[in-house]
Amino acid sequence: EKGGYDYFMLKEIAEQPRAVADTLLGRVAVDGTLTLDEMRLAPEELRDINKIVIIACGTSYHAGLIAKYAIEHWCRIPCEVEVASEFRYRDPILDRQTMVIAISQSGESMDTLMAVRYAREQRARVLAICNVNGSTIPRESDGVLYTHAGPEVGVAATKTFLTQLIACYLVGLYLAQVRNLKFGDEVNAVIEQLSGMPEQVERVLSMMEPMRDLARSLSGANTVLFLGRHVGYPVAMEGALKLKELAYMHAEAFAAGELKHGSIALIEEGVPVVVVVPSREGRSVLHDKIVSNIQEIRARGARTIVIAEEGDEKVRPYADTLIEIPAVPTLLQPIVATVPMQVFASELALAKGNDVDQPRNLAKSVTVE
Ligand code: BG6
Repeated sequence: EKGGYDYFMLKEIAEQPRAVADTLLGRVAVDGTLTLDEMRLAPEELRDINKIVIIACGTSYHAGLIAKYAIEHWCRIPCEVEVASEFRYRDPILDRQTMVIAISQSGESMDTLMAVRYAREQRARVLAICNVNGSTIPRESDGVLYTHAGPEVGVAATKTFLTQLIACYLVGLYLAQVRNLKFGDEVNAVIEQLSGMPEQVERVLSMMEPMRDLARSLSGANTVLFLGRHVGYPVAMEGALKLKELAYMHAEAFAAGELKHGSIALIEEGVPVVVVVPSREGRSVLHDKIVSNIQEIRARGARTIVIAEEGDEKVRPYADTLIEIPAVPTLLQPIVATVPMQVFASELALAKGNDVDQPRNLAKSVTVE
């Protein structure tokens, strides 16, 4: 049942192209129109929404952070993202015009469920993004968008994360269509690019050998730092979380722009720093800024592990290890940039002899608060 792999997690990482394709299946018409039937929220209701609040835990929270960039850009609706365990204890402002998106792979995380109940009491419209059919969170929500990743056995989420991203993009694009924003140009183009993502994930998986070699050489490191900006920042956070969960190593992610405000003090000789370089499409300012960040940390002794688009010659001179990923549009980059993070953490964990399916102290779904 592990399909020739030693661990379910490795099989699940390899299944990602299929999981992404299945989550898109039947939702995108040939002319680009999106059909999200189970959303059960009428177009009139969706046109009335003036705020979106995303709640989730762990890896699902990182999907929410990425969704914010996409939804605000495509829909021009203010969007907040919060860990579910903090949400209902701070008296959040919600009403009928608020759409709450609860992201939970299992559909059973107690913190997220309690936040959903709270949001419904406040009359917000709740949409669940879940992988498990008929689980509690979708049953208690107004609507649901299922990810079709198939069962995930590995405790640390992998393929469900990529499909949550797809679901979040679909919601954002659908809202933009319904609200008639930018429809016809940018949104249409992204919908088309989204259809190409299974292939891009397949490609990035085939490019991971250098990442495996590198991970095996780092099993003695005390800490690994992760840097990113824009959508690369939540990807860096996910990279750090995976490393903690699987390799039991200290890891921390920073927004690259925050380096100079404190964290650069941590850089000393030999500290491995994984940097997610933004795509060059559209946002070259960010790209240039991160290239300077890489130079700054390298000048202070960091061992730079740079995840960048194929053919990105500007970063090459400053990368001690260059991990190439396919070039895709900026907002979709997390789909491909997360894969090296998963490979890095799982390979390092295996080098340390850890069980990557059942990391110590963790449970697949946490049904206590
Ligand atoms: C944790 C899992 O217990 O719950 C994480 O170990 C997961 O991998 C988190 O991201 C949230 O789970 P869910 O099911 O609500 O997405």
